[in-house]
Amino acid sequence: MNARPEILMTNDAPLSAAPTVLQVTDMVKFYGKLQALRDVSFDVRRGEVVALLGASGCGKSTLLNIAAGLDSFDGGSLEIEGQPAAQFKQWHKLAYMFQEDRLLPWRTVRENVELGLETQALSRRARHQRAEHVLQTVGLGDFAQSWPHQLSGGMRSRVALARSLVVEPSILLMDEPFSKLDPYTRSQMHQELLRLQVASGATILFVTHDVEEAVVLADRIVLLEPRPGRVKQIVEVPLDRPRLPTDPDTAELTRQLRLKVTP
Ligand SMILES: Nc1ncnc2c1ncn2[C@@H]1O[C@H](COP(=O)(O)OP(=O)(O)O)[C@@H](O)[C@H]1O
Ligand SMILES: [Mg+2]
Repeated sequence: MNARPEILMTNDAPLSAAPTVLQVTDMVKFYGKLQALRDVSFDVRRGEVVALLGASGCGKSTLLNIAAGLDSFDGGSLEIEGQPAAQFKQWHKLAYMFQEDRLLPWRTVRENVELGLETQALSRRARHQRAEHVLQTVGLGDFAQSWPHQLSGGMRSRVALARSLVVEPSILLMDEPFSKLDPYTRSQMHQELLRLQVASGATILFVTHDVEEAVVLADRIVLLEPRPGRVKQIVEVPLDRPRLPTDPDTAELTRQLRLKVTP
C-alpha cells in the first residue's frame, strides 16, 4: 500500500448545528399502482454521514435516485442546499456511486476516473493530474495505467470511489457500494471512506441493507420499512470513531437495530 498523507484536520463542530444540505419532506412515489414511498421525511446536514437502512424493496434506491435528481416523485418535496430541487442548478456538486462499479473495461484505471471530468472544461493535462491525484488518495497511485480486469474487487471499488471523488463533490450519494466485497475488504473500504470524508468534509448519504455497515459508518440512520416504503425510526449513532464491528458498543447497537429491521 502506498504511503498516504496523514489527515490532521478533524471536524469538531457539532453536526446538529450544521446547515441542512438535503431535506426530504413527505416524499411520495408510485410506480404505476405500486406505492414505493409513503410520506418519507428526513434531512442530511453538512458534513454528516447518513444511512438509509432497510430490507430489499423498502424504496432505498428510489429515495436515493430522487435525491440525485435522477427520478421524479408524486408528492412531497426535495430541497438541496436550501433550494427546491426544481430550482437547484449545481447538480455537479453531487456524485453518485452505484452498486456495481461500472468500470469500462476498455479504459485504463485513470481513464475511468477521468470519466467524471469529461463534462468539465478542463485541459487533458489537468484531467490527468486530477485523476492521478485522486487515485493516490485512494491508494492506487501505481495503478493508473492498469486495466480494470487486472484489479481485485477491492481495487475496482477504490477506482469507482475515485471516479466519484474526482469531481470534488460536496454531496456523495452511494447505493450499496460495497455490498459485493468480501467482509475484510469491505471493512477496509469503510475506514478509507471515513478518512476521505473527514479530509474533504463531504456530506454522504448512502443506502445499505447491512445493519453493521450502517452502524460503523453513519452519524444517523434512517430506518425504513417496506410496502410501502416509509420511515420507521431515525437513530443517532453516538459512538466514537473508528468503530470496529467487534467493539462491544458497536456490536450491541448493531444487535439492537437488527431486531428492528423489518424483513
Ligand atoms: N422502475 C421501477 N418500476 C416499477 N417498480 C419499481 C421500479 N423501481 C423500483 N420499483 C419497486 O419499488 C419498490 C422499491 O424499490 P427500490 O427502491 O429498488 O427498493 P430497495 O432499493 O430498498 O430494494 C419495490 O417494490 C420495487 O419493485
Ligand atoms: Mg436498492
